[in-house]
Amino acid sequence: MKVAVLGAAGGIGQALSLLLKTQLPAGTELALYDVAPVVPGVAVDLSHIPTAVKVEGFGADNLDKALTGADVVLIPAGVPRKPGMDRSDLFNINAGIVRNLIDAIADHAPEACIGIITNPVNTTVAIAAEALKAKGKYNPAKLFGVTTLDVIRAETFVAELKGLDVEEIVVPVIGGHSGTTILPLLSQVEGADFTQEEIEQLTHRIQNAGTEVVEAKAGGGSATLSMGLAAARFCLSLVDALNGEDDVYEYTYVEGDGEDARFFAQPVLIGKDGVKEILHYGDISEYEAKCKADMLDGLKADIKLGEDFVNNPA
Ligand code: 2OP
Repeated sequence: MKVAVLGAAGGIGQALSLLLKTQLPAGTELALYDVAPVVPGVAVDLSHIPTAVKVEGFGADNLDKALTGADVVLIPAGVPRKPGMDRSDLFNINAGIVRNLIDAIADHAPEACIGIITNPVNTTVAIAAEALKAKGKYNPAKLFGVTTLDVIRAETFVAELKGLDVEEIVVPVIGGHSGTTILPLLSQVEGADFTQEEIEQLTHRIQNAGTEVVEAKAGGGSATLSMGLAAARFCLSLVDALNGEDDVYEYTYVEGDGEDARFFAQPVLIGKDGVKEILHYGDISEYEAKCKADMLDGLKADIKLGEDFVNNPA
């Protein structure tokens, strides 16, 4: 098994790579790619950690080598938000970065499962899909937008508020990965009752949690440590599933039947070949149904922006 991290020297990339070095199954190869010249040093640094995961660093000219043979490719590359910015403000820079990396994946690791972390995820996943399609290499079962951070935030906040065991709690989060497109399904949380006021406050906090971090870092970037952990959790699930483990489920942003939008985060059963089954998210409350109806146009516009970036460039 080989996992490649593209953008491995950045804030998310380093946290993610550290967790993968310590948690991937023995024998896994971890390829760290970045345009930043520090990447060989990050690889050497991690290589001193005593686990049976082999780490190698690849600089700007060696993307092909980083990708060749990869089973999983994670993309945290790109620039983060500063205070006052929305994830969509990152589009101009990050869209091109994702496009170039995806083109290289199509050429050098066309069978890999791809996890997109680069924001705006609602849009960059659509860019990835269309760029792969243009190369004749798009397999919807192998392209994922990583929305795990919304799930772990929701679980943390609900457990805190209700005094529940955060290890046990499950909070489904559907939709996209930006503002109101992030929709926690609090009506489905077992073992907790919420007042309408609590539901509205929690929903707002989960939707704005990324901004909470951006403001607290005051110009120093966005979430890196919690995002690294979320992406590692997603990657470890993917690796388990690719290794043949049954019953691996994650909430993730994938192309499904288009009932809500072309790409939509929902529960997904992952198997040896990527997405095995996309499950419906089940019954939702009237409040959640209204939140969903209100955000769908925005999510669809985010997706169209990505499709147009590849197919109808200005
Ligand atoms: C967040 O939600 C970085 O998009 C990431 O904080």
